[in-house]
Amino acid sequence: MRWVSTTHTQEDHVAETGKQDAIALLKADHRTVEDLFEQFEKASGEGRKQKIAEQICLELEVHAMIEEEIFYPACEGKVEEDLIKEAYVEHDGAKVLIAQILEGKGQNDEFFDAKVKVLQEQIEHHVEEEEKRMEGMFSQARQAGLDMDGLGEQLAARKAELIETFKTTGIPKPTLTTMDVAI
Ligand SMILES: [Fe+2]
Ligand SMILES: [Fe+2]
Repeated sequence: MRWVSTTHTQEDHVAETGKQDAIALLKADHRTVEDLFEQFEKASGEGRKQKIAEQICLELEVHAMIEEEIFYPACEGKVEEDLIKEAYVEHDGAKVLIAQILEGKGQNDEFFDAKVKVLQEQIEHHVEEEEKRMEGMFSQARQAGLDMDGLGEQLAARKAELIETFKTTGIPKPTLTTMDVAI
């Protein structure tokens, strides 16, 4: 696990205990997924691409779950309501593609590469909305004085728990939060 974001900024606080605060943890997740999308672009061979795509889906599912269970609820009333609502819908848009990619047809799906590419573009947009300076969700949350160290601990604990579970169960189909459609 990476403890320090590759794009370390003044806003990223790594406490002296070595634990990440909430924003540093979530940003580090974003960088991990960006790296994986780059690896996917460069990869060749069906097996390799499938493996990277699955890793992307795992990372994104866990990340969306810890944000939706812990971080977004903590932002309620502190961050612009529209921004939070849009974030949930953006997660669901990504989950639809994740479910498709996880169906496991891999290169037999003629749209496989396109689905991963569009997922990447959607995530880039979503990450921008979260990380944007001043008006982004993380900035607003920081300005509102959220307990980032406490939240960071909760996020890290839940993330570890989910990864452990998914190791045994496999990556489950994502659950949609804002839409009532079967995927
Ligand atoms: Fe995020
Ligand atoms: Fe998010």
